[in-house]
Amino acid sequence: MAAIKIPAEQVTLTDQRDVTTFLAVRGIDYERWTPSRELGPDASADDVLAAYAYQIEALKARGGYVTADVIDVKADTPNLDMMLAKFNREHWHDEDEVRFIIEGRGLFHINAGGDVFVLEVSKGDLIRVPRGTHHWFDLCAEKRIRAIRLFQDPSGWTPHYTDSGVDRGFQPICFGPSYIAPVATRPSATPPA
Ligand SMILES: [Fe+2]
Repeated sequence: MAAIKIPAEQVTLTDQRDVTTFLAVRGIDYERWTPSRELGPDASADDVLAAYAYQIEALKARGGYVTADVIDVKADTPNLDMMLAKFNREHWHDEDEVRFIIEGRGLFHINAGGDVFVLEVSKGDLIRVPRGTHHWFDLCAEKRIRAIRLFQDPSGWTPHYTDSGVDRGFQPICFGPSYIAPVATRPSATPPA
């Protein structure tokens, strides 16, 4: 499930209602999708698209998206670093960035009018970053993501780099288990008098 960090305020949001509201206020849609049938680890792209056909068609109708595909990235994907280098600098697009995560994790940094927050997405998360939003994207340490992408016009998804340098002030560190609420520490036992 998605989680948000706001570095400037040292705040982390993990409650899905809090995450959804935080994003909605900033014009970013967030949903949880479940497939119409279970998908195995070897499911083909067509199987994936068929399992989420209902949600994809509904989103196409809502957002004017015309195509959907499946991107599959692993640690051994050829030229992975070159691929990631296109997206891990601050940029924006002429169309929405719509991703539904099937496997793996990723980290969006989103610059909402000067306030940067970090959104970690994982399996079952649908995110729609509106066109024009300044953002950048990294994979987590395991370098794994499989996601459905929706496009209004695939040619409109070319990154436009801001070259602001804002991205250099942030480390692309995924949250991992540490974002789960810490277990309260028991007070140490009082030593016998
Ligand atoms: Fe992007």
